[in-house]
Amino acid sequence: MKRRDFVRNTALTAIGASLITPLAAFAGDRVTHFESEDLTLLPAIKDDYALHFMALGDWGRNGEYDQVAVAKQMGFWGAAHANDFVVSVGDNFYPKGVVSEFDPLWHYSFENIYTAHSLQCDWYPVMGNHDYHSDVDAQIRYSKISRRWNLESLYYSKEITLNKGMGTGKALLVMIDTDPFLHEAKAAQVETQMKWLHETLGNASADVKWKIVIGHHPHYTVGPRINNSDTLTMRKALTKTFEDYKVDVYLTGHEHSLQHLKPEGVTHLFISGAGSELTPVTSGLPYSKFQASEHGFMYFSIDAKRLNVKAINYKGDVLYETELTK
Ligand SMILES: [Fe+2]
Repeated sequence: MKRRDFVRNTALTAIGASLITPLAAFAGDRVTHFESEDLTLLPAIKDDYALHFMALGDWGRNGEYDQVAVAKQMGFWGAAHANDFVVSVGDNFYPKGVVSEFDPLWHYSFENIYTAHSLQCDWYPVMGNHDYHSDVDAQIRYSKISRRWNLESLYYSKEITLNKGMGTGKALLVMIDTDPFLHEAKAAQVETQMKWLHETLGNASADVKWKIVIGHHPHYTVGPRINNSDTLTMRKALTKTFEDYKVDVYLTGHEHSLQHLKPEGVTHLFISGAGSELTPVTSGLPYSKFQASEHGFMYFSIDAKRLNVKAINYKGDVLYETELTK
């Protein structure tokens, strides 16, 4: 949908059915055009990074558990700051995924929650364990229905040119599907996916400055799953690959909090799983740089030499900011 169509449709929807009759009478035969240029929007805060995206996880709860509060703040943030797309790090629909691309949960937990104009951008999701409880492929098929939901397959990658700010280069985003790793019966699928992951990371062009892997299950955490089998399984599966291919960032959800962890090695782990329900965190662990059990999301700003990450709560407070440099 073109931007101006969206604006017009949104405006007409906002008028509401109860007002249509009196407004129609008032308007007579005059035609009103709504153009995006006519609207006075908050000016986006300018910075000189090349790429910006928000990361949100563990959200689809029909608006409850403060899902709406986080969604509203993402909308405000996106209106006031540059933003290219939203990454969803999985557990998109509680409690058991969606049964089809026509499941009413698409409306109750997604379309009617993330309603801000600024969030009508591309969304790039990965799947969480809860998404697997029904028809996970329905989340691929919904990409044919939605303008903004973009899930071409259960794992996929995007190479993005960074041509603003400091230097030039590319960012490689590699979206992986982690739930099969936790089921022995899916070992063959995992092997195929790992072969693809190695090829994707190994074939990255020389001008890729940042390798960012995005999945649902973290390989470390300071939340309740600090030593559980999910975490230890992912650690065993991914650590060597991350080291061999010098993955800069692993971005996940699954733990319902905001975290920045730096275990031994090259890879920084960011967990952004605070889109609705919260779970507690433990502070003081040696590999932890930041943790907060607060509703919110993360905001990434990237150019060829800098990767800036902010953790933002539902009130718009920047709880934490860090910058990796090349
Ligand atoms: Fe999860």
